[in-house]
Amino acid sequence: MAKKIQSKSAFVCQQCGSASPKWLGRCPDCQAWGSLIEERVSPSRRHEGAPVASGKVVALADVQEDDARRLPTGIGELDRALGGGPVAGGVVLLGGDPGIGKSTLLMQALARLSQSGASALYVTGEESAAQVALRARRLGIGDSLMLLATTELEAVLDALSQHRFHVVVIDSIQTMRSAALESAPGAVAQLREVTARLTEIAKRDAIAMFLIGHVTKDGSIAGPKVLEHLVDTVLSFEGDTTHAFRLVRAIKNRFGPAHEVGVFEMAHEGLQEVPDPSALFLAERPAQAAGSVVVPIAEGTRPVLVEVQALVSPALYGTPRRVATGLDGNRLSVLLAVLTRKAHVHVMDQDVFASVAGGARIDERAADLGLAAAIVSSLRERPVREGTVVFGEVGLAGEVRAVPRANVRVLEAVKMGFRHIVMPAVNSERLTAAERKGIQISSVRTLDEALRALD
Ligand code: TYD
Ligand code: MG
Repeated sequence: MAKKIQSKSAFVCQQCGSASPKWLGRCPDCQAWGSLIEERVSPSRRHEGAPVASGKVVALADVQEDDARRLPTGIGELDRALGGGPVAGGVVLLGGDPGIGKSTLLMQALARLSQSGASALYVTGEESAAQVALRARRLGIGDSLMLLATTELEAVLDALSQHRFHVVVIDSIQTMRSAALESAPGAVAQLREVTARLTEIAKRDAIAMFLIGHVTKDGSIAGPKVLEHLVDTVLSFEGDTTHAFRLVRAIKNRFGPAHEVGVFEMAHEGLQEVPDPSALFLAERPAQAAGSVVVPIAEGTRPVLVEVQALVSPALYGTPRRVATGLDGNRLSVLLAVLTRKAHVHVMDQDVFASVAGGARIDERAADLGLAAAIVSSLRERPVREGTVVFGEVGLAGEVRAVPRANVRVLEAVKMGFRHIVMPAVNSERLTAAERKGIQISSVRTLDEALRALD
């Protein structure tokens, strides 16, 4: 690891925050090219974290839990992702692509909080006060919100010291700069300084604080590691801007379970909650189409049914094409090889296109078996029987492996009207009698068995 140096000037990687005394074309820590920029470092102000301690020794039993007071926003899907709502004194970083709806979401959350009596401040460094007001009117948000248009950290701190706010949104952290540092807004030194100072105040005054963060091309929050360590919760706002649906996912959460998700739909009147995402994702599913398979995925503790589609067609020239949308392309290649070698399904000379309908994304191994089923269904032009869902991890030997939270997947499938479940044998043996009631379960140990159960 490169040394964190204390000299007056250093070359700091804008991706990971590591510092080097001289300029390098490539960051020695995160291997990013051309990411080192010279920044002034002022040694007098180096916060690595916010003060969270009184410095006194206390018995664990004497520590009051109400230190972590929750302020539910009333937007159920956001509260769910936060593990019950934002926490007074907690700092949440919300990252996401431009235009995905970060400002909209937090403006709606602030409005709800202020309606329920919290005093709320929206700091905008990105848009003018007039633009923010325009959005608020469009969202039908009342005038109880306080607005501050500035990019100066000191102005924000001033406002926070003059008035007691319960909840504050900073839109965005990359536009804020502290006069104490010379570097430009968005530079790692500034990000670290601004975030650390705001975190400090949030903890001291028990403010629930939201920081909006931009993401870099590869989807991580700009200056990512630096910020992620400083805050309590990191939420990522995801979705395909060409689709209406949006997902808020907890990547890190000191006050609740990570990986919990909330689902929204972007409508004309702002973001609407989607309490029943399975229905949304299956809404346009074609009836009895070859290559379409329903897969129960488990996002956090919540199961969601999604439609996995595959289209297999003979490759006309050269190397067959493999295109995966919303799925891991490498996983697709592995599955094609396993299908060929272990299940004697010949797909190596075929173009294979695979996607998840509705703009959803799957990063779960549990979708392997469903994807394999979709590929075979398309290749053979035979639709999977109506009312079937498929899940399970596929190993390199062609075995079907158990996946976590199998019972919640089964229950979700039953709730949505599916009656035939193709699943790993190890998982099905653990289902209770109540969970098996009224459904047909095909317990499978190999890919071969699964394909036979689907025939
Ligand atoms: P915005 O919250 O500004 O995104 P971000 O802060 O993440 O950059 O939202 C941007 C998009 O959302 C914009 O393209 C318009 C759309 N939108 C709606 O469809 N309906 C609405 O009610 C609002 C406010 C925005
Ligand atoms: Mg915005």
